[in-house]
Amino acid sequence: MFYQKLKPFPKGFLWGASTSAYQVEGAWNEDGKGMSLQDLHEPPAGVTDFKVASDHYHHMPEDVELMAKLGLKAYRFSISWSRVMPAGSGAVNEAGLAFYDRLVDELVAHDITPVATMFHFDLPLELHKQGGWANRATIEAFCLYAQVLFERLGDRIKYWLTINEQNCMVIHPNSMYPKAIGEVPDRKNLYQQSHNMFVAAARVTNMLHEMWPDAKIGPAPNITAIYPATCAPEDVIAADNWESIRCWNYLDVAVFGRYNPICWAYLEEKGLTPEFAPGDAELLTSAKPDYLGVNYYATATVAAARNDGTDCAAREGDQQVMLGEEGVYRSAANEHLTKSEYGWIIDPVGMRTTLRRVASRYGLPILITENGLGAKDTLEADGSVHDPYRIDYLRRHFEQAQLALTDGVDLIGYCPWSFMDLVSTHQGYGKRYGFVYVDRDEDDLRTLRRIPKDSFAWYRHVIETNGAEL
Ligand code: BG6
Repeated sequence: MFYQKLKPFPKGFLWGASTSAYQVEGAWNEDGKGMSLQDLHEPPAGVTDFKVASDHYHHMPEDVELMAKLGLKAYRFSISWSRVMPAGSGAVNEAGLAFYDRLVDELVAHDITPVATMFHFDLPLELHKQGGWANRATIEAFCLYAQVLFERLGDRIKYWLTINEQNCMVIHPNSMYPKAIGEVPDRKNLYQQSHNMFVAAARVTNMLHEMWPDAKIGPAPNITAIYPATCAPEDVIAADNWESIRCWNYLDVAVFGRYNPICWAYLEEKGLTPEFAPGDAELLTSAKPDYLGVNYYATATVAAARNDGTDCAAREGDQQVMLGEEGVYRSAANEHLTKSEYGWIIDPVGMRTTLRRVASRYGLPILITENGLGAKDTLEADGSVHDPYRIDYLRRHFEQAQLALTDGVDLIGYCPWSFMDLVSTHQGYGKRYGFVYVDRDEDDLRTLRRIPKDSFAWYRHVIETNGAEL
């Protein structure tokens, strides 16, 4: 459809940026912080771990100052569970909580809306030792942790996100589990973990609504439209299956309180159905998210499975991520799309499609909680960082966001990944996403100086004009 006129970005649009605790904070063992699974990460030679990261823990006021200079209206960050509750449950670490208290104060003082994720891949190690999310005691621990956060920060944080990319933790468990733990749990266990996460998210959603009726809360899965490789009906079914299993199930449970029927049939067929405790079904239906966080990076294109042992293969350039599932679907090439230098598909129009599908299915406000380009940026001799490729990437995605708004999507904000350079989940510090360059590399912490990239000035102008000039 050709529009005569595009709808402008609405007044109060949350132009933001994202990070997560373990990827920026550093201070992995300071001020009483307990260990999380991410602290066990032992990357291959030449790739950094998460111990210092961007040292945001020690640079926080300066970093928020830069957010203000960028003109951010919102900052999406995560809270480290084991910083606040070192054992995941029980005693609160006041010094750790004080860090988030100061962060939130700084944000509010600069008119930046805090958007806090409660759990972003960094499960407290003590909880992991007791079975992690597969153990229902972790649901109780999460609720205790949430209660502390809501009591102590709920007066100032009005946007909460429960769990980051629950679907990725099931489909790509190494997003949460470092190699050091040995074998990752089997899929039956992972789907039970996921069920327990649904229950935990529902409980804290209801808790927040009781404690702070003016606050909003929602999930933050990684959602993407799945394309069929061709218009062959079998490819269409494969795409539909995979979209239901990979994406819709996570929003269906969060919003409708029931599993997606196509996903459930798949779980039955594979012997992966989770156990429900008495009361789970009622609880899931009772919890109503106020908005949906959507992490969007890339669409996937799939074809019907062949079921001949070749359906599953490593993603190009990334041995960590396997695509395809034997007998379910296989990954297919999409000749219409390009890829980043890290082999990630670039598909701005796919983001519009994704947003439209989410809006049509759920009718809730959407906040883009992640989207961005990982690239090898270069610090020039004169101290500048030129990242025209990132500007181009984000501009094309913002254009599609505006088209999605014009299509009728209730898009309330956009938080690109990431505010500043941080440690990528598996590809260290060489793969940078930020508007702000951090002067360090994999092995050498150098000065840790913050340097706005060209994309910083560009994004500031976008925000200043409320997206009228992209
Ligand atoms: C998302 C995660 O999946 O993708 C982030 O929520 C992550 O934690 C981001 O950093 C980019 O992925 P990567 O592997 O390039 O760091």
